[in-house]
Amino acid sequence: MGHCMGCHTPRTQGISDFTNSLGKGGSRFSIALVKGYPSAWQGAIASNITSHPQAGIGAWSDTEIKRALTTGISRNGRELNTPMKDHCRYFCGMSESDLSALVAWLRTVPPLE
Ligand code: HEC
Repeated sequence: MGHCMGCHTPRTQGISDFTNSLGKGGSRFSIALVKGYPSAWQGAIASNITSHPQAGIGAWSDTEIKRALTTGISRNGRELNTPMKDHCRYFCGMSESDLSALVAWLRTVPPLE
């Protein structure tokens, strides 16, 4: 599903804990994954994208989630950092029905603090 959980699930010894921590966030990205990262980039910490209303994106509207994916702008208007903002490159071409399916699936991810 869009490779979201590969980044948004914390890893222990390099292995993502999809059973207990799906979408919980917290992993730090500080090395360039692909060429072309901005030289001033200081790194970023993957957000909690579970359905938790405060810690995660449970209170976001469908439109706000889709906007984050396709434009790299967070709910509060903040421009998301690399690597998330660069993913527009991949996600902005998704069809509206695929985006809706992805959002529907994200709503099923159990809430985690
Ligand atoms: C290559 C790693 C990576 C992938 C793949 C990825 N993300 Fe992210 N995402 C991040 C990082 C790191 C941040 C934090 C960026 C920041 O704080 O500026 C983030 C931020 C976000 C945010 C903003 C949350 C907030 O509180 O502002 C949302 C929503 C999000 N990602 C959803 C997704 C979804 C849905 C997918 C899959 C379709 C996805 N991400 C794929 C790394 C990734």
